[in-house]
Parts: sequence; structure tokens; C-alpha cells
Amino acid sequence: MSSPATPLTASSVVARLRAAGCVFAEDEAALLRRAATGPAHLDALVARRVDGLPLEHVLGWAEFCGIRVAVGPGVFVPRRRTEFLVRQAAAAAPDRPVAVDLCCGSGALGAALAATLPTVELHAADVDPAAVRYARSNLAGLGEVYEGDLFAPLPGALRGRVDVLLANVPYVPTDDVGLLPAEARVHEPRVALDGGGDGLDVMRRVAAEAPGWLAPGGSLLVETSERQAALAEEVLRAGGLVPRVAVSEELYATVVTGTRPG
Ligand SMILES: C[S@@+](CC[C@H](N)C(=O)[O-])C[C@H]1O[C@@H](n2cnc3c(N)ncnc32)[C@H](O)[C@@H]1O
Repeated sequence: MSSPATPLTASSVVARLRAAGCVFAEDEAALLRRAATGPAHLDALVARRVDGLPLEHVLGWAEFCGIRVAVGPGVFVPRRRTEFLVRQAAAAAPDRPVAVDLCCGSGALGAALAATLPTVELHAADVDPAAVRYARSNLAGLGEVYEGDLFAPLPGALRGRVDVLLANVPYVPTDDVGLLPAEARVHEPRVALDGGGDGLDVMRRVAAEAPGWLAPGGSLLVETSERQAALAEEVLRAGGLVPRVAVSEELYATVVTGTRPG
């Protein structure tokens, strides 16, 4: 890699990021400078970020629940608010739980759960081959990753045995996808975002099938927006689960847990 004509100084990195609209320009500059192997590499990283690539795609990792999860172009970047879903799942899990991370994306939720509950038997699945590649790498040695539509690729032996079923499904209503920030709209796959007319189409399918996979007393956990929470509760109830809504003011997160009666 050739060196840029004028090597970037710390302040010029911040200035370029700020001019491109990065709100946390100082923090991002520090991360990019740490990631760069030299001046030319730093210039290339900054250029990609200025072009609008999510910071995590530029770095190649996202921090989630205190661990680093590998991510890259074409895969959903795990959001900080989703840490609340993992916390709720860990709290709902019995000893030596069987857990499934459905719609796993990079596998961040499963990896974080395994870090909290080392005895977990973990399975994860996603329909998107790019996501499955990242999940296989992030969950190597922690669990099995399957590729396919929702429950279809899971081993039948899991039926009736799942204690915690985490499903951070796409839940943006179709008409709102165009309103998302470009980082998501342009750089994350539509299949990771678009939840259909009211945003809950995928959740409905998950809730309808979940009781057949959950152990008695087992729980399905989904994330929603605050606006969708009441409807999501109805969706889980319609699937035969007993719903409960939990809110984190700190993470601005809403999780609906649906428990299969024991
Ligand atoms: C909002 S992203 C969440 C990813 C990951 N769980 C996270 O929180 O970082 C939704 C994920 O659902 C996957 N997905 C969408 N429809 C699916 C389907 N029918 N079957 C399996 N996965 C699906 C997408 O590929 C995407 O990875």
C-alpha cells in the first residue's frame, strides 16, 4: 500500500470524520488510528468511513456485551440496545440451558449468551449465507450454526427442548425502511431490516412455531420498538405463549418474552 501524500494527523482524521457527519468523530478517530497498520492503511480506513460504511464494517468488529464480534460488509451490525435481550434471556435460563439464537446474523447474541452462561448448549440459524459465515466464525467452539428459513434447518431433536429462544427478527415496517439512516439502509441487507407491513411478519411466523420447539416453561424473547410492544404481546399470545414486556430506559430497548406454560 502506498503512503498518502500528506500523512493524516490525529486532528485531521477527526476533521475529516466530522466533515462527513460522524457525531462521535473523536472516538471513531481513536479506534481507526488504533486499527491502522500504517499511514496508508489509516487513510484507506478513514476514506471508507467517510464514504458512509458503518464504523463496525470498517473496523471488522463490533463490541457487544463486552465482547468483540466479527462483522463486515453485508452483515447486520449488532445494536447496543439488543444487549438487553441477552440479559433477559440469561435471566430466564435454567441451569445448563438449551438455547437457540434464531435470525442470528453475526451470531452476536449467541456469543454473548455463551460468555454469560458457559454451560449453554447453543444452536443458531439464519437464512442469509453471509450472516451464517460470520456466525460460524463468531460461534466456533461455542455452538452449531445452521443455514435456512427460521426453524427449518434446526435438528428435529431440539423440538420440545429449547429453554431460551432468542429471536431478534427484522421488525422495521416496510414503509419505514427508507427512513433508516444510510448506514443501515445502504449497507445492511434488506432481509435483516424489513419486517413486512406492520414490521411483525417474521415475528408472527416465529411465534406460531415456537411452542413446538420450546421446553415446558421455556421462553421466546423478541425485541420490538416501544410502539410495536402491545401488538408483539398479542402476537406471542396468539402463538399460545404467556407474554411479558420489559423495558430498559438505559438502552432504550423493549423486549417481549413469551413463555410456554409448564
Ligand atoms: C435484525 S437482524 C438481527 C441479527 C442478529 N440477531 C443481531 O441482533 O445482531 C435480523 C436477521 O434475521 C435474518 N432473517 C430474516 N428473515 C429470516 C428468515 N426467514 N429465516 C432466518 N433468518 C432470517 C436476517 O438475515 C438477519 O440476519
